Amino acid sequence: MVEKVEEVRKGFEKALAEVQDGEGLEALRIRFLGRKNGLLTTILHNLKILSPEERRVAGADANRLKKEIEIRLESLENTLKGKEKEEVSLDLTLPGPEIRTGHLHPLTLVSQDMVGFFERLGFQFQEGPEIETEYYNFDALNTPADHPARDLHDTFYLSPGVLLRSHTSPVQIRVMEKEKPPVRMVTLGRCYRRDALDASHSPVFHQFEGLMVEKGTNFTHLKGIITYFLEYIFPFSSQTRFTPAFFPFTEPSAEVSISCSNCQGKGCSSCGHTGFLEILGCGMVHPKVLQKVGYNPAEITGFAFGMGVERIAMIKYGIPDIRLFYENDIRFLHQFREIVGV
Ligand code: DAH
Repeated sequence: MVEKVEEVRKGFEKALAEVQDGEGLEALRIRFLGRKNGLLTTILHNLKILSPEERRVAGADANRLKKEIEIRLESLENTLKGKEKEEVSLDLTLPGPEIRTGHLHPLTLVSQDMVGFFERLGFQFQEGPEIETEYYNFDALNTPADHPARDLHDTFYLSPGVLLRSHTSPVQIRVMEKEKPPVRMVTLGRCYRRDALDASHSPVFHQFEGLMVEKGTNFTHLKGIITYFLEYIFPFSSQTRFTPAFFPFTEPSAEVSISCSNCQGKGCSSCGHTGFLEILGCGMVHPKVLQKVGYNPAEITGFAFGMGVERIAMIKYGIPDIRLFYENDIRFLHQFREIVGV
């Protein structure tokens, strides 16, 4: 009898290895454990014809095999179920995951918009270095070492006389040194200042700058072009205001504001209760600046202007915090999808 049990065990092992699916498994169960003619069931049945001594040994053996078979069948059943599940979840007819395409950053969008506007007016795009010398960043712009205007432009010095530019105005000098008038140029790029990061300041930010130097250029050209530009960029604003200001490299100088579209110029919390939002600085190029680049201020005049790109984008799109531009939060960036049209 003991040999018979061993035979059944071997037969079971062999048959188990050949099972492919649930049906095969059930057939195996019936073949070995079936109530009527199951191979092991028959052995267990026949135990009663043995002597008590033989029954004890063979019975223990057969029952152990029964347990074993039950465990093996259960484990195979679980494996087969897992496989079935996998097959069911692979549904090739389901729509695939959405493929999100990228798009331009809001700062790139306004930058392209501003540069494009001036290019259509005959201004040429020019680039300048972010690492500048003190000469181009200050001295050539009529801002000598002891000038108080330098305090507002405290920046990062890499070595004596070499710094990260605090504005894009040095590009004016580089272009005028290179080219003879007439000059119509715009530039755009990263600038640096020793400012702590908060809702409206960042130590790294962008400026957009323009320069037009041509015989006969006067303040009305400046006023006309800037007004035209602001009406284009901020179509929702109804008024443009020029107020006297001071910059060392322009004379006269002006600060330009647009009326707050939130309160229509009446004054509210988003415009600091002034009714206006300051946008840019501008003025007629200072004769000393023209002289420094070898132009004759008695013959030639020009105007210049400069502004923060982040500020333009914040006002244009209603963005409350400058830090949002740099955090790369996809939820923020995707709000510009419609503007780009993707
Ligand atoms: N560079 C100035 C600044 O960063 C802005 C500016 C003012 C630029 C007047 C100009 C200008 O070209 O004419 O504060």
